[in-house]
Amino acid sequence: MIYLDNAATSYYKPEAVAQAVADAIRTMGNGSRGTHPAALQSSRIVFETRELLSELFHGDGLEQVAFTANSTESLNIAIKGVIGPGDRVVTTVLEHNSVLRPLYELERAGTELVIVGCREETGSLDYDALKQAIIPGTKAVVITHASNLTGNVTDIRQVGTWCREAGALLIVDASQTAGVFPINMKEDGIDILCFTGHKGLMGPQGTGGLCVRSGLTVRPLLTGGSGIMTYSKSHPQVMPTALEAGTLNGHGIAGLRASLLYIKEKGIDGLRRREQALMRRFYAQVKEIPGIRIYGDFSQEDRAAIVALNIGDEDSGQVSDYLAEEYGIYTRSGGHCAPLMHQALGTVDQGAVRFSFSHFNTEEEADRAAQALREY
Ligand code: ALA
Repeated sequence: MIYLDNAATSYYKPEAVAQAVADAIRTMGNGSRGTHPAALQSSRIVFETRELLSELFHGDGLEQVAFTANSTESLNIAIKGVIGPGDRVVTTVLEHNSVLRPLYELERAGTELVIVGCREETGSLDYDALKQAIIPGTKAVVITHASNLTGNVTDIRQVGTWCREAGALLIVDASQTAGVFPINMKEDGIDILCFTGHKGLMGPQGTGGLCVRSGLTVRPLLTGGSGIMTYSKSHPQVMPTALEAGTLNGHGIAGLRASLLYIKEKGIDGLRRREQALMRRFYAQVKEIPGIRIYGDFSQEDRAAIVALNIGDEDSGQVSDYLAEEYGIYTRSGGHCAPLMHQALGTVDQGAVRFSFSHFNTEEEADRAAQALREY
């Protein structure tokens, strides 16, 4: 099997991740719900994981990191927790449905939604239009750090500067970049960073979270059990409990802690360069194959390790199935939950076959995938 669907979820995880989950299942009580050793073991692991995440993203401390099940949950909390009817919000055609659908919901309730386009040839964000759209009176900009379809990376720092000038909040979807690209909430001017644990962070599925700039109040989506202030009729407003209700995925968080320690030890830049080199090696070969159309801006040096393509008019699902069945090469086809990006690229009907790399892939795997396309 050649697994090239890492943008959907990373399949190969550091060995310590599985071990940490297994250990947690055997030893962990319910953190924040007791003081016996098993509960404290859970509290300690959750605490350390918050700390590692805040450090990785240069956040405002561990208390500003709230855990969720995935990016979609994080983005729903962030978007619905700071934006309301009458507010003006700016987003882009690069976004995933986890951004678009909550925003459409708000739009139906009276939020003004401005969607900035891209250059049709490459899917690159139209920065001139984005700059013009971020005007004073804009409540928030919700933007992805990298397109999950093309791999094009957004200049978050530039967007952060425009947001500060206009007094707008910056909410970043780091689903495709967390754990792989450097993110500095302070220097990038990010108010809320939403991430998932199971992609570049290489943790278990069912982990994710959001880092909130201190001083910013986010309305919770859920209220309920918190382990503190039991006799209050309201959910506690203190972070991170304010945005967490019910028992956390402690076992998953233990796995995420192990992957964060791995990333810290290996170094984020080295891991990224390795997967980018594999992506470039594959790209250099497939771009020479007649009839293949590749989407994305490959002049961008520091881009996500994704190559999305089509072969002539072939349906992307058929190509992806063929690669899986005949060669054991796993990719993702279809719409990738990115409707506006596909619309902009003219691939709504055909979809696209997306190859996405991890540093655990090998040169040989990249070459065999390119060879499979040559033989198609
Ligand atoms: N959002 C994930 C992807 O891009 C699942 O495949």
